[in-house]
Amino acid sequence: MEISNGGIDNTGSIITIKGMLSLLMQSVDDEKNEKKVISLAMGDPTVHSCFHTTHVATEAVAEALLSEKFNGYAPTVGLPLTRSNACNLGLQNLECVFPLDRAIAEYLSRDLPYKLTPDDVFVTSGCTQAIDVAMALLSRPGANILLPRPGFPIYELSAAFRHIEVRHFDLLPDKGWEVDLDDIESLADQNTVALVIINPGNPCGNVYSYQHLQKIAETANKLKTLVIADEVYGHLVFGDKPFVPMGVFGSTVPILTLGSLSKRWIVPGWRLGWFVTTDPCGMFRKPKVVERMKKYFDILGGPATFIQAAVPSILQQPDEVFFKKTLNLLKQSVDICYNKIKEIPCISCPHKPEGSMAVMLKLNLSLLDDISDDIDFCFKLAKEESVIILPGTAVGLKNWLRVTFAVDPYSLEELEAENGSEFKAHVFSSSSELLQKLQEKWSSVKKKPYPAMYSSIFGGIILDPAMMVIPIDDHMVHRGHGVFDTAIILDGYLYELDVHLDRFLRSAVSARISSPFPRSTLRSILVQLTAASQCKKGTLRFWLTAGPGDFLLSPAGCPTSAFYAVVIDDDFSQCKEGVKVITSSIPMKPRLFATVKNVNYLPNVLAKMEAEDKGASASIWIDEDGYVAEGPNVNVAFITHDKELVLPFFDKILSGCTAKRLLELAPKLVEQGRLKSVKTANLTVDEAKGAAEMMYVGSTLPLLPITVWDEQPIGDGNVGELTMALSDLLWEDMVAGPETQRHCVSYDQ
Ligand SMILES: Cc1ncc(COP(=O)(O)O)c(C=O)c1O
Repeated sequence: MEISNGGIDNTGSIITIKGMLSLLMQSVDDEKNEKKVISLAMGDPTVHSCFHTTHVATEAVAEALLSEKFNGYAPTVGLPLTRSNACNLGLQNLECVFPLDRAIAEYLSRDLPYKLTPDDVFVTSGCTQAIDVAMALLSRPGANILLPRPGFPIYELSAAFRHIEVRHFDLLPDKGWEVDLDDIESLADQNTVALVIINPGNPCGNVYSYQHLQKIAETANKLKTLVIADEVYGHLVFGDKPFVPMGVFGSTVPILTLGSLSKRWIVPGWRLGWFVTTDPCGMFRKPKVVERMKKYFDILGGPATFIQAAVPSILQQPDEVFFKKTLNLLKQSVDICYNKIKEIPCISCPHKPEGSMAVMLKLNLSLLDDISDDIDFCFKLAKEESVIILPGTAVGLKNWLRVTFAVDPYSLEELEAENGSEFKAHVFSSSSELLQKLQEKWSSVKKKPYPAMYSSIFGGIILDPAMMVIPIDDHMVHRGHGVFDTAIILDGYLYELDVHLDRFLRSAVSARISSPFPRSTLRSILVQLTAASQCKKGTLRFWLTAGPGDFLLSPAGCPTSAFYAVVIDDDFSQCKEGVKVITSSIPMKPRLFATVKNVNYLPNVLAKMEAEDKGASASIWIDEDGYVAEGPNVNVAFITHDKELVLPFFDKILSGCTAKRLLELAPKLVEQGRLKSVKTANLTVDEAKGAAEMMYVGSTLPLLPITVWDEQPIGDGNVGELTMALSDLLWEDMVAGPETQRHCVSYDQ
């Protein structure tokens, strides 16, 4: 039997990434080569233990699976159960609250100037199937499609199966891999059915600006063709440019947005993707088009039903800590790759990645002996060094290389130490070499997060972040013998500097650290530092330590104490959304240590991490007598059903400056008759959980509503009215309070 290749089929000539990778893996010489295989070729970060999905996602899938309600077929366009029929089926937790298509529509609508509806959304088996669906729906005799070069070869393959002619337009390496719009104009004709853009870009790691996307939309509109926006790497950006979805320009040109959970949630194996008509003008809403799309989706199986059922919970609870961690890891790996590549003469990187998980590197063959092209280079690299990278030819660019940086940054450091051999630490031969290395880290950072630091060791203010260091023999570094405090800078004013400074000095007395300067000098340094930083909104953190000396337990060998301070460019605003908290299982610090703001924050860090692991914002400590104590770096406050504001006594916990200020300001609400009274008291867990409202109170918040504690709602589970009234009082005090609370920084000195 023969399977027809139907006329113009050229599928045989297309190299797939998977196909190329398996050939490269086969060429690793196992016998001769004892080296561990290092793959920088596959866009699947799950092979590295540092990349794992959020517990929110795994718990949602586990819940769906264990419910045994999702073992049947799903409707082929996803799980569009309506509120009423889902409830009739007993599916209370999942789609009853949030049908799948609506969940995806709402998730994508968050970044659009208009609202998508569930009818715009079709669920696919990963973004790969969404690509294939797009090709199938657009195919017609004589059709052609414009694809980026370099690109993602699945497009070529799928187009070949559908007999759609592929025309490539270039991405321009020297212009941050922007689309060559002139190329597009010269390639398109009346048979062009679509042009494809991948943003954030695979394989180039580029992120398109709003302006460039707008130009693409205008060009497509002029050429009367639609845009397929592959946003499988949506939101995976770590450079200066934000991710702008192409759908923002849906009114200019109809857009098909393709995406999946694969990359942002690090679950490529779950095969959950989407095909979305991002088209507020309704081009795709013509009855015939809708019918054709629906019919086509009838052929497809879609992802497993229990994965589909979990999606609403996953999209509804974006785990920002998890997203941030992923971006930090990717950024760390990119920095290492980019800096190392600079040291390799035969390869160069024209554009440092700002997003996605891959980068294109140019190979300079003239500097290599006995290497004929990129494919030869990659096969020899696999054979001789057991390092797998993808030849550019596989993504459309000969004599380039595609490297995936979604790898453990530490494994990249190891790679530096010759693959397989023992790690060899570099010895810096001179301080200028070291200085260069320190400055490298900051050279690509446009806005410095730490604009200024003071060090009594240096005896002055430092503006170069590479030099913001403290001595390793400082008693704070190796024994934790130091105290600290934080004040905020808002609109060019230092808020509550004096109360923070007083607490700082009280902590220093308890820690038996004497200040190298009198209080007035410390205060003056902090004000001058803030002025030198030019920062108008941020935090000012400062430390007193036993100072440098020897490495012994006693500070007797540390002759002078040290004072350090740093300004951090931070953004914060009034918190209006409620958060979840849990009771901490990490023991709280005993009174002596809890009441002193010392640097031993291990219990606090573990308590915060425990909360984050459980999908909560932070935790609550309960003292040994069963009374509510505090959060890991915030105080906690309650409003009872009798409208009393109650804060736990400060005798066993840190006496919060913001909490104390709240106690001073809250009587205004008593005068207005909104609150009955304001007090500090012992509160049992039951009393606290039975409160009408609950909140965290701390410097940068200043007040964060808590709506759920240990999965139980506080009051009616909504952000409380009195909580917000108190928050307004504090915020007002921060932005326009009396001079006693706010020190105006004179930045012109
Ligand atoms: C540009 C691009 N589109 C689509 C896909 C496929 O995504 P999925 O794994 O969700 O099928 C990938 C995967 O690497 C990709 O890089």
